[in-house]
Amino acid sequence: MKLKNRTVLITGGTSGIGRELARQLLALGNTVIVTGRDPQRLEQTRRDLPGVHAVASDASDPAAIRALREEVVARFPALDTLVNNAGMMRNLKLDQERSLSDLTREVELGLQGPIWMVQQFLPQLRTQAHALIVNVSSGLAFVPFPAAPVYSAAKAGLHAYTRCLRVQLGGTGVRVVELAPPGTETALFRAEFAREMQNEKAMDPAVLVKRAIAAIESGATEIRPGPSNLLYVASRLAPNFMFKQLIKLGQPRTGR
Ligand SMILES: NC(=O)c1ccc[n+]([C@@H]2O[C@H](COP(=O)([O-])OP(=O)(O)OC[C@H]3O[C@@H](n4cnc5c(N)ncnc54)[C@H](OP(=O)(O)O)[C@@H]3O)[C@@H](O)[C@H]2O)c1
Repeated sequence: MKLKNRTVLITGGTSGIGRELARQLLALGNTVIVTGRDPQRLEQTRRDLPGVHAVASDASDPAAIRALREEVVARFPALDTLVNNAGMMRNLKLDQERSLSDLTREVELGLQGPIWMVQQFLPQLRTQAHALIVNVSSGLAFVPFPAAPVYSAAKAGLHAYTRCLRVQLGGTGVRVVELAPPGTETALFRAEFAREMQNEKAMDPAVLVKRAIAAIESGATEIRPGPSNLLYVASRLAPNFMFKQLIKLGQPRTGR
């Protein structure tokens, strides 16, 4: 499958990995629609990526997802590719006071959001001969990071859901791909984890996206670049060893 002359919808395409996906997919000759919530970032993305279509939409809100489907399908009837990319990762202490609705925001955005998006957009995707769904999970889907507990749970759930979706859509012409990025140099990686990640290297988003596009074009279904594959393999061969490394990473020591 060539990622060329396609019509691609990317949630959370105004920053980080989503924005880089939009940039590279535009350069390859695709029509690209990105979503995000912040109007200034949407406007900045329109300025920086000429030709991109930027639509305000909250990927964790069912009503917004329904409205997005109406708008996008009407404006872009050739839509054949959905990238569920929008995500957030918080450093959460589970013994601290927090409202129940706030506590599970990563689940709404990172797990329920993609499930709702797929359900809403599947009828459109099934009208296309060769459709594609890309769910962006994480290396943390394979080994949880205790400092980001709800995020890790959401990504493990997204991994499980994506595997099931792939089976159920087998033979329908809708291909299902999971992209599990490793630590990548974006706002998400640094914002809430500045201390924990201060000595940690992260992948350049341009490198990650180039690898992801090449892997999709070569037919891969589960893409685990670099350290993500290490996490995956370790989760099978030495799960406790890798979990202990991630426990340590969440407990920064001075001078580390
Ligand atoms: N960076 C990493 O190390 C890493 C590693 C593994 C996996 N990932 C995954 O990669 C994906 C992209 O992350 P990133 O690192 O590129 O993050 P990022 O730079 O923080 O960008 C997140 C994007 O999502 C949008 N967004 C956030 N909440 C949203 C919502 N409710 N509705 C719609 N859009 C929303 C943001 O725009 P607005 O805030 O304006 O809405 C922004 O465009 C996520 O699924 C993340 O979990 C990242």
